[in-house]
Amino acid sequence: MPASKTPGSPSRRYRPDTRLVHAGVLRSQFGETSEAIFLTQGFVYDSAEQCAARFRGEDPGFQYSRFSNPSVAMFEARMAALEGAESARATASGMAAVTAALMGQLRAGDHVVAAKALFGSCRWVVEDLLPRFGVASTLVDGVDLDQWRRAVQPNSKVFFLESPTNPTLEVIDIAAVAEIAHAAGATLTVDNVFATPLWQSPLTLGADCVVYSATKHIDGQGRCLGGVILGSEEFIQKHIHMLLRQTGPSMSPFNAWVLLKGLETLSLRVRRQTETAAHIASVLAEQPGIKRLIYPGRPDHPQAATVRKQMGAGSTLVAFELDGDQATAFRFLNALELIGISNNLGDAKSLVTHPATTTHQRLTPAQRAELGITEGVVRFSAGLEDPEDIAEDLLTALKAV
Ligand SMILES: Cc1ncc(COP(=O)(O)O)c(C=O)c1O
Repeated sequence: MPASKTPGSPSRRYRPDTRLVHAGVLRSQFGETSEAIFLTQGFVYDSAEQCAARFRGEDPGFQYSRFSNPSVAMFEARMAALEGAESARATASGMAAVTAALMGQLRAGDHVVAAKALFGSCRWVVEDLLPRFGVASTLVDGVDLDQWRRAVQPNSKVFFLESPTNPTLEVIDIAAVAEIAHAAGATLTVDNVFATPLWQSPLTLGADCVVYSATKHIDGQGRCLGGVILGSEEFIQKHIHMLLRQTGPSMSPFNAWVLLKGLETLSLRVRRQTETAAHIASVLAEQPGIKRLIYPGRPDHPQAATVRKQMGAGSTLVAFELDGDQATAFRFLNALELIGISNNLGDAKSLVTHPATTTHQRLTPAQRAELGITEGVVRFSAGLEDPEDIAEDLLTALKAV
């Protein structure tokens, strides 16, 4: 049986919401509607000659699922189509993507310039792991462009940032940092998890590489871990391809299938979650118990002009500081009935995080203070519940504080 027709016309560039549903489909001879899960480690060949040709790269097709797999390839192609990237590689988790993206570009003796406000594990990779392999780093205040300029050394090879930052939702000017990186002969890698592919496209802003934890909005339903690295074909071939193939932080075909299904609803979910987050931000901003409220979609956001310049909309997250200490924050978290206490985000279920005791607990109190992560800071991730039920839960918990 020959392979069935794939959806759409190969010559048309469909709009993003259409790409989220159809891009990258490899339909088998059975003509399935939903993408197939190719739950196989390996592949067989028609002949020894074909096998040899495939290993020489002369025969197209799959060899072994550590290298590539049809379900994973569909996820990669759909992500690339969404992001406007020439190439993508999937990984087992977001941290595998970040680690591979950085290590693939760096050699002993190189230097990294990174924003201080990184997710805790990303900061560990930069500050603790890379030095073991002879790679030094300088951490800067990401919104201060002079600090990026001053941090440049002759051996600076990679700039790395996330924007909006975790958890205080600072927004870094990606185009400006890309320009500084390129002038220094370095590349820029952006962790785009908090923005989502819907609201920010770092490659079009000048970044060379984008990484995601697909665990967050891309799955969006709390089911599986995953990550993805995107860039030009040349970038992926030069820095990423062999590292992933030979070291094996591969995505499982089952997870790729879950994430393909997640992508189909990404746009609907993220739009609704963003509307809900904006509503929650405006409700919380009026409350006396809230000392500081940060939401990238509000005009009072410290980098509102940068948000307007580079993001399509605010965020699905809101950060706020309760007027009090850790005990106050814990009383608030414990009084929530609907919203879950978690370190995750981007889920269909609304979640809250206390960064000082979870995602950023490894930092010293002084390092946390520098990033504005006080004991009263709470990060809220909007889910898909009725926004009024979420608001009522937050307001009831505030009264209990
Ligand atoms: C900004 C950011 N980058 C990377 C990661 C790592 O992703 P994963 O948990 O899928 O390894 C996370 C969350 O865990 C994150 O919030």
